[in-house]
Amino acid sequence: PTVTYICPDGELEEVEVPVGTSIMKAAVSHGIESIVGDCGGSASCATCHVYVESHLEKLPPKSSNEDEMLGDAASEVLPNSRLGCQLVMRDDLASLVVRVAPEQW
Ligand code: FES
Repeated sequence: PTVTYICPDGELEEVEVPVGTSIMKAAVSHGIESIVGDCGGSASCATCHVYVESHLEKLPPKSSNEDEMLGDAASEVLPNSRLGCQLVMRDDLASLVVRVAPEQW
């Protein structure tokens, strides 16, 4: 399944994300530098903040931990804010679109 990342500079990056891989990990391994992923994916840094622009209703709800970490995010937190490391690709999330938060630190 592919994910489209809308980078803060307006560039669109289409990345093939294997099922079971988080959209943070896929972005980092494709060199999308606007996603940092400093903690390696344990929901403890909030440097993988994205705004989900499609399929929002299909995503699993935020854990209390994710919700708490988003409170520390550098960019404005919106109702569609999520931590990219907590969004794990599934087949039914094909063509997911996420906008990368402008500031991660
Ligand atoms: Fe640290 Fe997602 S990578 S919270």
